[in-house]
Amino acid sequence: MTGVVQIRPLVGADVAEASALHREILDMEFLSRCGSGFMRAYYRAWVEAPGAISLVARDEGGELLGVVLGATDPATHVRAMVRESGVRLGIRLALYAVGHPSFARDLVVTRGRRYVRGVVRLVVARLSHARASSGPSTDPRVGEITHVLVRSQRQGSGVGRALLDAAVAAGRAAGLDELVLVTPPDLAAGGFYRHLGWRADGEMTSRSGEAFVRYRYLLDEGGRGDGGRGEGGRGDGGNRPGPR
Ligand SMILES: CC(C)(COP(=O)(O)OP(=O)(O)OC[C@H]1O[C@@H](n2cnc3c(N)ncnc32)[C@H](O)[C@@H]1OP(=O)(O)O)[C@@H](O)C(=O)NCCC(=O)NCCS
Repeated sequence: MTGVVQIRPLVGADVAEASALHREILDMEFLSRCGSGFMRAYYRAWVEAPGAISLVARDEGGELLGVVLGATDPATHVRAMVRESGVRLGIRLALYAVGHPSFARDLVVTRGRRYVRGVVRLVVARLSHARASSGPSTDPRVGEITHVLVRSQRQGSGVGRALLDAAVAAGRAAGLDELVLVTPPDLAAGGFYRHLGWRADGEMTSRSGEAFVRYRYLLDEGGRGDGGRGEGGRGDGGNRPGPR
């Protein structure tokens, strides 16, 4: 199945459709279990935060085929999301949890402590009028891709490649040296990333206890991402971006 694929920035009018497709295609993700209202708010917050990489693919008839999300400066992006939309997202999550006890239990067990710490930090920052510092620039400049998804019926027709190519171009335009992403070890997507020139860079465990393989793509070398260090080491990912 082919056809002209148009890649363009994800805008407000795409949010409902894109977030629904995300919940359908990446249904194994915890995020996808958080309810459609939360997911729409999450997408809106993502797109509005500075440094977002957020693109959609549509065919010539306007059908939504896929989405890629990421950030050119992950730390700044996530801080802005929390600062501008954290309260709204927290309320939506809490309301959803009230009506879904088994989800609420998983939320508390896997993410409760981390989210409470985040809320406390947010409240303290607000009370003390603290400003988020942009911090010293890191060297190299590392962006991240967090989600790539293509409508089931259109998988295998070049949409994922077009989305990832556009995300890589956005990273280059932002002056990044490298992009990273993580994917569960049992997901076929690993083969897709390797085929497109991403290099496996070890395993890691998220703060919520899930296993991931980390991939990197060096922008100045057209994706030869192992930087001469080889593949397959095991690490905690250091201070570079990881799963949110
Ligand atoms: C993974 C995914 C994004 C790939 O998108 P896609 O549109 O199906 O992939 P494309 O058709 O653009 O494939 C591009 C190339 O990668 C190759 N490829 C695709 N999947 C592959 C795989 N699992 N292993 C090896 N190569 C693969 C294709 O053969 C194609 O090669 P070519 O361009 O040289 O002919 C898509 O299948 C998807 O949404 N999967 C479900 C969600 C998911 O797993 N997302 C990733 C979460 S981390």
